[in-house]
Amino acid sequence: MKRASDGTRSRMSLSAFPALKNDCMLRAARGEATEWIPVWMMRQAGRYLPEYQEVRKDADFFTMCRTPELACKVSLQPLERFPTLDAVIIFSDILVIPQAMGMEVLMVKGKGPVFPDPLKVPEDIQKLTLKPDIESTLGYVFDAVNLTRERIAGRVPLIGFSGAPFTLMAYMIEGGGSRTLSKAKTWLFKHPEATHKLLQALTDIIVEYLVGKVKAGAQMLQVFESNGGDLTPDHFTEFSLPYLSQIASRVKAAVDVPMTVFARGANQEGALEALASTEYNTISVDWRIEPSDARKRAGNKTLQGNLDPGALYAAPETLRKLVAKMVKGFGTQRYIANLGHGMHPSHDPEMAGNFIDAVHACTN
Ligand code: CP3
Repeated sequence: MKRASDGTRSRMSLSAFPALKNDCMLRAARGEATEWIPVWMMRQAGRYLPEYQEVRKDADFFTMCRTPELACKVSLQPLERFPTLDAVIIFSDILVIPQAMGMEVLMVKGKGPVFPDPLKVPEDIQKLTLKPDIESTLGYVFDAVNLTRERIAGRVPLIGFSGAPFTLMAYMIEGGGSRTLSKAKTWLFKHPEATHKLLQALTDIIVEYLVGKVKAGAQMLQVFESNGGDLTPDHFTEFSLPYLSQIASRVKAAVDVPMTVFARGANQEGALEALASTEYNTISVDWRIEPSDARKRAGNKTLQGNLDPGALYAAPETLRKLVAKMVKGFGTQRYIANLGHGMHPSHDPEMAGNFIDAVHACTN
């Protein structure tokens, strides 16, 4: 690995990376024919893996995100354990963007992310850095992406990701996860102008951040609107969709890369149809929608999903049947198999392997 004189790593240029051997997932995203169904799992690098726990016991979560060697190591762990996986996702978190804007975010054991000083009133937006220098605040993610792409050595594509504006805003106002989103919803109903100002600032940052990830080596991008399903159809149309759409158009104007949108639970009237008219290649759906219904509503987009993560607690034989049923609903083409949301810490790694095998056992 090359190192600059100040000890930081100088990034490898895209042309220096070895050729990609397994491009099945990229082809599925572009709507091209595939010989098998590509598969990966959201949160595939995480606490269900003992080898992840081993690294995590000595390092704080965000220290892992900020240390390219560690982020690279845990990103590769799922591929080392399951060599037939069709992609690696870079280990990081969506909340690195609020950090880049000057907010403190801690990962608290048993609780998840906590913002000690969340946004309370619209005036608090003034305290944020609305136009952070992306290279100096998030360059560590680009370093991790670059190193990971190098170490994957062409085995599979590397996925980069970002949180979507509304989901990030919800965390910044709630100060952590929330069932009701009461505080964030107060902004939507009471302060729509300030809300749009914040969502646009986040959008501008996300676009530059995602383009930077591609320039550092990411071969596919996914945008997580994890709170998309909490919005009314009208609010989804006003506060989520235009920003999601803008992100895809602007990133694609800058770099040629397949993009996926995961608006978790956003099966509201008209939401899937509207996402189908954006520039995303792939729409990721959760388990609350029938695959055949998603097909009818999502036009000719590639679909990703959507096994209930709970199915990984079933007997292996049951899991195989559930996967086969899911594949029957989606079909084998223009399809990327995944869970409807991420792996749980209590999942048995062996069942993740069974899931991957069950998908690959389904042929045309
Ligand atoms: O998918 C992957 O393997 C890549 C890495 C990844 C993480 N977070 C690692 C992580 C990705 C893509 C994310 C995205 C993310 N982070 C989202 C969007 C997807 C979703 O789940 O809806 C959200 C909402 C977050 C914010 C976040 N980070 C939460 C709510 C939590 C706590 C989760 C929990 O179950 O406690 C995290 C922590 C986190 N992010 C962990 C990992 C591996 C576990 C942290 C630990 O090791 O203690």
